[in-house]
Amino acid sequence: MVQNVATVMAELEPEDFHLLSGIEHGMRFSRWVAEEKLPEFSRLDGEDVDYRIDRCMDRELLERKTIQYTGYRLTFEGYDALALRTFSERDSIDGVGAPLGVGKESDVYEARSFQPFALKYHREGYTNFREVQKEREYTADKEHRSWLYTARKAAEREYDALETLYPEVSVPRPVDQNRHAIVMERIDGVELSRVKLEPEQVIGVCDLVLEEMATAYDAGYVHADMSEYNVFVASDGVTVFDWPQAVPAEHENSRELLGRDVGNVLGHFERKYPRETPEIDREALTDALVGGSFESVRAFSE
Ligand SMILES: Nc1ncnc2c1ncn2[C@@H]1O[C@H](COP(=O)(O)OP(=O)(O)OP(=O)(O)O)[C@@H](O)[C@H]1O
Ligand SMILES: [Mg+2]
Repeated sequence: MVQNVATVMAELEPEDFHLLSGIEHGMRFSRWVAEEKLPEFSRLDGEDVDYRIDRCMDRELLERKTIQYTGYRLTFEGYDALALRTFSERDSIDGVGAPLGVGKESDVYEARSFQPFALKYHREGYTNFREVQKEREYTADKEHRSWLYTARKAAEREYDALETLYPEVSVPRPVDQNRHAIVMERIDGVELSRVKLEPEQVIGVCDLVLEEMATAYDAGYVHADMSEYNVFVASDGVTVFDWPQAVPAEHENSRELLGRDVGNVLGHFERKYPRETPEIDREALTDALVGGSFESVRAFSE
């Protein structure tokens, strides 16, 4: 389990961040940043580099490897620390709290500000990166693309989608983005997978989710990872979250991806509420979402 780096933030000094961002810079060119490059990349003298390396290694913000040379790279926590510092400098958040959700591809925490926020660190590319890493070690640096890049791209894509969709579509309000991290409104609700709807609520909630998908399509995006795990249900409606794989509506596969999203949503309701959920003509329903003529799944029962 990844530690919540927020606990070490208070102990870090400006020069520690110089070292971390120097290594971040070096990771654009190589998997392991050679020790001898660190004074140049971090603009610290050699002695200070050694001192800062020890501090950052103790806090698990860095990893070291020695084969042909001694090199360093950021851990998740090191990259998290850099993003957190940026958010705090911009006054986006002033503290990090309890975990809200830990997924395969992300870690989400409560964030404190004048409003309740959620802080999502993207982790895409990291697992994959480690496997490739084992085989290649120091070779093939030309093809090098670090997980920092993959995770940052995912955060940027998710943030772009949220900015486009909010507030027309019920998504968390985007607040800030830096590196692989996003700050957004914290949603108070229960995931669709975990709610138990009353029989008379089932069709209404299903319609609300599909309406959001239709509005999102109209606003320019297909979610492309819709499921009962990416929808919050609250007394005042539904919120669709987790948008890093969103695909523009003008993309050639967007209709197909929307059809798959529709299938995922209907599949959930059919499995969990078989008595209340009618058999639906999915193709006709998807066409209605695309054409902006959707009103209720009832109109598409076979
Ligand atoms: N804005 C938010 N407000 C409150 N909780 C959130 C918010 N965003 C995400 N979460 C929580 O964090 C969990 C993971 O978020 P998200 O689905 O965006 O990431 P993920 O990488 O897809 O995770 P998983 O792979 O488990 O689906 C969610 O299931 C939810 O419980
Ligand atoms: Mg998710």
